[in-house]
Amino acid sequence: MNIEKIREDFPILERKIHGKKLVYLDNAATTQKPMQVLGAINDYYTQHNANIHRGVHTMSEEASDMYDEAHKKVGKFINARHPFEETVFVRNATEAMNLVAYGYAMHNLRPGDEILSTVMEHHANIVPWQFLKENGIVVKHVDIHDNGTLNMDDLHEKMSEKTKIVTCVHASNVVGTINPVRDIAKMAHDYGAVFVLDGAQSVPHMPVDVRRLDCDFMAFSGHKMLSSTGSGSLYAKKEMLEKMHPFLGGGDMIREVHLQESKWNSLPWKFEAGTPDIASGIALGTAVDYLKKVGMGNVRKHDVNLLRYTFDKFSELDGSVIYGPHDPEARSGLVAFNLSGIHPHDTGSILDTEYGVAVRSGHHCAQPLTERLGQIATTRASFYIYNTEEEIDIMIEGLEKVKKIFGKK
Ligand SMILES: Cc1ncc(COP(=O)(O)O)c(C=O)c1O
Repeated sequence: MNIEKIREDFPILERKIHGKKLVYLDNAATTQKPMQVLGAINDYYTQHNANIHRGVHTMSEEASDMYDEAHKKVGKFINARHPFEETVFVRNATEAMNLVAYGYAMHNLRPGDEILSTVMEHHANIVPWQFLKENGIVVKHVDIHDNGTLNMDDLHEKMSEKTKIVTCVHASNVVGTINPVRDIAKMAHDYGAVFVLDGAQSVPHMPVDVRRLDCDFMAFSGHKMLSSTGSGSLYAKKEMLEKMHPFLGGGDMIREVHLQESKWNSLPWKFEAGTPDIASGIALGTAVDYLKKVGMGNVRKHDVNLLRYTFDKFSELDGSVIYGPHDPEARSGLVAFNLSGIHPHDTGSILDTEYGVAVRSGHHCAQPLTERLGQIATTRASFYIYNTEEEIDIMIEGLEKVKKIFGKK
């Protein structure tokens, strides 16, 4: 993996922030976009812009083919059995989770049925299930150990014949923990439950094979893996999508419409009502091409190397604590940390203004997890394929400065 060569594909990395070269470490929120992806968006709008699946004219057919092809690429990337039909394009992982809640859970669960989630979830995998409480559905949450790993004993205890959906994050966006999702999927299936995976932080960072993991649904965001904002995907087994009710009704998701009833379109279009974000969908296909060229095994190795380097550096930074497991192999490419006695917002803002380092401060849309860690907020540095050890050094230098400003040793 030639990082310097990769960096040349990302023009934004040349940007100056307060006179300093940008050090972008907020990749878990959204990644930067390479020239190839920006080029695909430009090409679509300058050469092919037309609505899809509607016209018989040349540009509409071209746009339709490009958009359909992107579905296939994404499905193949995660090794879906039916790459095209099992790939529904949505705006983001949040929309994908809501689609499962409204389209599957709302119509297939009964009062008294249970959904088993965990306390380490992003809000996108907490709030949609809360909506179902109105239907008498019970939502339970598996606890974590203090080191940020999932408490599997608690998972066993909370699982029962009433459990109809088991859901969890693959890689936590705060503690970084990579959950044993293959085992969890098996456990769910042994109880006759379906398994819903939040792949928002795993699909961009490691090889993910939905057939090996045996998940029934998986949500992920295209914009966290080099594509533009407005791109995300729901993977679901074909039989699940067939059982599922459409969430949004309108154009493109129907085969026939009569005044009193309609028939749904084939997969995946049954779940893509109205004009989609065509350019972002095409861009996601290009992003997948880019990542495949880099190699997802290499992406993962790079994350682990940067984690190892970061842990070494933090061990010399007195008063710092990193949350989650400390074995780089057990976690994904991010660290959420605190400096004793300093608010994460101060840390983030000094890193930005004095060093051009972009990190995120807050609860990272995982408030229950942040509270479970006994914190109000943390600072998070999250890596991607273009980040370097030199950039970690700049962040560490910045953190020393933060400590100095606040009079900490
Ligand atoms: C683990 C996890 N799940 C879900 C999401 C939601 O992603 P999006 O904002 O693209 O819907 C995020 C975003 O940070 C995340 O980290």
